[in-house]
Amino acid sequence: MKNNHFIFSGHDTIELANKFGTPLYVMSEDIIRKNANVIVDSFKKQGIDFEVVYAGKALLNTAICCIIKDLGLGLDVVSGGELYTAKKASFPMDKIFFHGNNKSIEELIMAIELGVGRIVIDNEYELELLNRLSIERKKKSKVLFRITPGVEAHTHKYIQTGQEDSKFGIPIGEAEEIILKAYKMDGISVMGLHCHIGSQILEDRPYKVVSDIMMGLIKRINEKHRIKIHELNLGGGFGINYSEEKSLINMDEMINKISTLVKRVSKENNLGIPKIIIEPGRYIVGNAGITLYEIGAIKNIPGIRKYVSINGGMTDNPRIALYGAKYNAYLANKMNQNNKEIVSIAGRCCESGDMLIWDISLPHCEAGDILAVLNTGAYNYSMSSNYNRIPRPPMILLMEDRAEVIIEGETLDDIVRNDKIPSWLNN
Ligand code: LLP
Repeated sequence: MKNNHFIFSGHDTIELANKFGTPLYVMSEDIIRKNANVIVDSFKKQGIDFEVVYAGKALLNTAICCIIKDLGLGLDVVSGGELYTAKKASFPMDKIFFHGNNKSIEELIMAIELGVGRIVIDNEYELELLNRLSIERKKKSKVLFRITPGVEAHTHKYIQTGQEDSKFGIPIGEAEEIILKAYKMDGISVMGLHCHIGSQILEDRPYKVVSDIMMGLIKRINEKHRIKIHELNLGGGFGINYSEEKSLINMDEMINKISTLVKRVSKENNLGIPKIIIEPGRYIVGNAGITLYEIGAIKNIPGIRKYVSINGGMTDNPRIALYGAKYNAYLANKMNQNNKEIVSIAGRCCESGDMLIWDISLPHCEAGDILAVLNTGAYNYSMSSNYNRIPRPPMILLMEDRAEVIIEGETLDDIVRNDKIPSWLNN
């Protein structure tokens, strides 16, 4: 800590705020690489075929694609926009997994023509559509089937997805029939199964349960239909530590447990060991990002609450309003001060629900102070909006002692860029 300032990934955050302005998304390439390597190194110890696929929905832009490419990871995309971003970054198409419960015809054609590695089939309608589009283009699409294994993970209900009552995936009871049908299709090559039980999961038990269920299905498909399943993708969802939530997941132990189970069931049933794939998003970028804001208006209601307003809010971080997420923050220019007070951090949007943090203990806050909100790397920029016509802040990337802009901040002209005045009003 230099000059009482908060140091993030070796950088003085006050110097960053002065140089690049606020609000500012700050990402650390060093931390992203460290997080990814924890997973890859854990798998390497298992002596099995594996692939770590970064879930781009957590945060995607061309610079992040370049890091993921350089790390040798795969990439999970869920839209033409994410796929196009990967293409712009020259990401290897055969390492892309294309997800989504309602991919459009245009998106499927784009995926086939670009030669995307795996298309993850979500439902029977999509299977038939993809088969037809692939045959028309004289291609065979390699697919995984997204299965809902019937496991409910304990997380916010909007980010739970493994239970049967979900818009995603094929209920496990219908899986065999659909896979058998796909196996006979000329435009489809069945590679494996996929499941994803939810996000911000704090323990490893559900992953073990789900691996067991999925191995049971692989066994049945092999025994009854003589179809070999080459790949088992267990999705993402590995939780991180926010302010109150603490993840009990130890990556090394969890990967050991899953791999041991998959190897044992494969051996007992004379199945080849499937390649194990996981798709972490938050685990890789969540703690690699912080957001810097400047404090402005402060409103003290004696005996009730002190509201400290910042120059951002639900437009750059909608997770509090959406999920009641809880964040921790530092007053980045007053790290050594002990005169703490309890305040609530308010966003700048015209909405009472735009509160970033309720009741946090911080040194005495004044206008011009810089607030650093921690763990904002995942699902912040990617879910940001222009509500209230507020331009999105820029994002910088830190790498060792370097810091560069990787997404320009939006301007007021960007805000009106797509507006059109109809002929009858334009005089
Ligand atoms: N794979 C699939 C198929 C997914 O649907 C997701 C997340 C992931 C991987 C990556 O999950 P992660 O490792 O990042 O938890 N907006 C919510 C999270 C939604 C997650 C959607 N799917 C949030 O801000 O908490």
